[in-house]
Amino acid sequence: MLVTEIIAKKRDKLEHSYEELKWFIDAYVDGSIPDYQVSAWLMAVVLNGMSFEETARLTQVMIESGKTYNLQHLTDRPLVDKHSTGGVGDKISLPLAPIAAAMGLYVPMMSGRALGITGGTLDKLESIPGYRTQLKDYEFIQYIEENGYAMTGQTQDIVPADRLLYALRDVTACVESIPLITASILSKKFAEGAQSFVFDVKWGTGAFMKSATDAEKLAESLTKTMQRLGRRSVALITNMNEPLGLKMGNFLEMEESYLCLEGKGPQDVMILVERQACYMALAGGIVKNMEEAKELYHQVVASGKAKDRFLKNIEQQGGSVKEFEAMLGVYRSEHYQDIIATTTGYIQHIDAGVVGRAGLNLGVGRATKQDTVSPVAGVEFYKKSGDKVSEGEVIARAYAGSITGLKLAMPILEGAFSFSNEKVVKQSMIQKELI
Ligand code: URA
Repeated sequence: MLVTEIIAKKRDKLEHSYEELKWFIDAYVDGSIPDYQVSAWLMAVVLNGMSFEETARLTQVMIESGKTYNLQHLTDRPLVDKHSTGGVGDKISLPLAPIAAAMGLYVPMMSGRALGITGGTLDKLESIPGYRTQLKDYEFIQYIEENGYAMTGQTQDIVPADRLLYALRDVTACVESIPLITASILSKKFAEGAQSFVFDVKWGTGAFMKSATDAEKLAESLTKTMQRLGRRSVALITNMNEPLGLKMGNFLEMEESYLCLEGKGPQDVMILVERQACYMALAGGIVKNMEEAKELYHQVVASGKAKDRFLKNIEQQGGSVKEFEAMLGVYRSEHYQDIIATTTGYIQHIDAGVVGRAGLNLGVGRATKQDTVSPVAGVEFYKKSGDKVSEGEVIARAYAGSITGLKLAMPILEGAFSFSNEKVVKQSMIQKELI
């Protein structure tokens, strides 16, 4: 096979076979094809797309480029996971994994770090002193067996093709391609060992996808490619124009996750957790219908079974439950400042994208992979859109990792809030479900 033939085929809008993709991707991973040729092929994919069958083939080839977790001996429960395209204040994985485990699933959860305005599950977990997010393979498998779920980070040997391709896409304006995004997400998810998935595809100012139309296209591509791979999935298209929940920041989001497990989380977070947990149970086939799924969900939350799994996970992965519980409500940065309502009326909107950008200065997220994050930085919202406010009232508090960060973040953060004299109709959280 010639590399130029592969590039020309995509340039001419033709479909690649499994054998072609396998040869091309393997050769790129082992260093026999230079970046400039792969860049040309990537741009051809961006411009001419891929069919769902072809995307499934690319996904398969990418999975095969590295190590996969073999969890096939875990036959007594279905292996199900979720994937979110990420957003500001998106901590859903943290309460969802123990709930899904308590409902009767195995959840092998592999997560990432904060980058840009989007938070990272690993950074949130590491705000608990001692909590380890780089588990050895045997630990990951053992904790899943013992507690139904475990949380770990991706290692270098998981889908090396994605690591190389993503780095190249990033510098050649080739990130924005639905088939490439689909294969990137699915290959990493399959490598962790799960078999069915629930996708939360977010759109809005605080998300990777800025428009609902693009989010829908990605959701369709994910579910249709999953079908071609012979696996079950559900995709939710959800709103990320306003930060999710009342707490944004690393430890603050651990705290809010704990509240969810006590059934006391904010409404928008609870809606998403419940819906995703129920679809995970349905995808795993452990319930017959949505009604049964909801009953099981409420039972594991009300009984404290899900919370027990969350606390057991903290101990398994190196944290201390005693220490975690003592930190609740008090582990805050000394550098803080309040945000005050500038008028009497209603909060019209809190722009998630702007909050995310302020979060970079506060120390919640990373502008570059090398940046460090602060466990105690973040924002607590006392009011959200639609809430009544009086002029001078404290509506949020920002915490920063440093005084300089706080000074830089405050003017940005204040610009995230808009007010109205009229009552405000809130946008719905879940906009569409692809089942
Ligand atoms: N997230 C991924 O995992 N891959 C992409 O290509 C884009 C977003």
